[in-house]
Amino acid sequence: MKKPQAITKEEKTVSVTKEELMESARKIKEKAYVPYSHFPVGAALLLKDDTIINGVNVENVSFGATNCAERTALFTALTQGYQKGDFKAVAIAGDTEDFLPPCSICRQVFVEFCSPDMPVYLTNEKDEIKELALIDLVPHAFTDLDM
Ligand code: THU
Repeated sequence: MKKPQAITKEEKTVSVTKEELMESARKIKEKAYVPYSHFPVGAALLLKDDTIINGVNVENVSFGATNCAERTALFTALTQGYQKGDFKAVAIAGDTEDFLPPCSICRQVFVEFCSPDMPVYLTNEKDEIKELALIDLVPHAFTDLDM
């Protein structure tokens, strides 16, 4: 079976703007549970029906039990019944000077459920938004097609 190819961004029409999606990520960030890192992150996941599902990072005194904001949003969406193919875009917001990228575990989890061309929006302290495709963040990803 051939691996899926990225499609051009022009083929995507998003009715929720990237600014609105990022605003949602910024807002939810305040709910992060971060007593150890003091590094709040918010995520806003746009679904195919234009629902937005949010996530925050939830830390634990056993640090490895921490869940990142991006995975919290994705797992919440899956819990609500959304499936592979239902994810249109994700925005991620932190309090960082530079654009905050998702960690590698989150990237791999997104590869499992989202298409390679899905837009991933990052932001910085100037409120600028950088758009990447998931495939830009995980080139040569390990997928079920490799097994
Ligand atoms: N974190 C996220 O929630 N998302 C990211 O993209 C980067 C890291 C969290 C995990 C931990 O709670 C804190 O940020 C510091 O690593």
